[in-house]
Amino acid sequence: MEAPAAPHNPAEPAQNGVSAQITVNSPEQMRELGRRLAKLLRAGDLVLLNGELGAGKTTLTRGLGEGLGVRGAVTSPTFVIARVHPSLGDGPPLVHVDAYRLGGGLDEMEDLDLDVSLSDSVIVVEWGEGKVEELTDDRLHVVIHRAVGDTTDEVRHVTVTGLGERWVTVDLSVLAA
Ligand SMILES: Nc1ncnc2c1ncn2[C@@H]1O[C@H](COP(=O)(O)OP(=O)(O)O)[C@@H](O)[C@H]1O
Ligand SMILES: [Mg+2]
Repeated sequence: MEAPAAPHNPAEPAQNGVSAQITVNSPEQMRELGRRLAKLLRAGDLVLLNGELGAGKTTLTRGLGEGLGVRGAVTSPTFVIARVHPSLGDGPPLVHVDAYRLGGGLDEMEDLDLDVSLSDSVIVVEWGEGKVEELTDDRLHVVIHRAVGDTTDEVRHVTVTGLGERWVTVDLSVLAA
């Protein structure tokens, strides 16, 4: 991926602060959030999904895949590191990565031989924090929280934060609509 035009000090993240908080009450609403998020995304975007097992990361990605109009059902990539979903139209492919299995981080990611250019794709990484940030300074962090203890509770609190120039002018409040 291309180096950023201006270097930035990692201790001082570039213009972050674009942030949205969304309360999601069901798996279907999580999918709907993914479909709305898809409308904001374009080729080269990196989305990092964090939240414990069962939080809803894959469910959100499923909606993203629907919104992007890509081929193939988005499923948990637990037994593969990454899966490429080509666009059914002329949009970018979705690259869905499970970084939990990506022990080595970025190097391994580039070794995957995905047969697709990452800068031409929308890349969604589950459990991505601390592993793939080097891919680009511009990224969207999605953190999914659920109530601790009560595993039958379907309420999720989702925080979406845009980091870097790419997200400065994007209105994330549309996600809460
Ligand atoms: N609000 C919600 N959002 C997403 N998933 C939910 C929600 N409420 C319950 N669930 C259930 O939790 C599970 C989430 O699974 P999954 O999306 O695979 O999580 P993760 O990828 O974070 O491990 C699914 O079984 C889903 O039906
Ligand atoms: Mg998952």
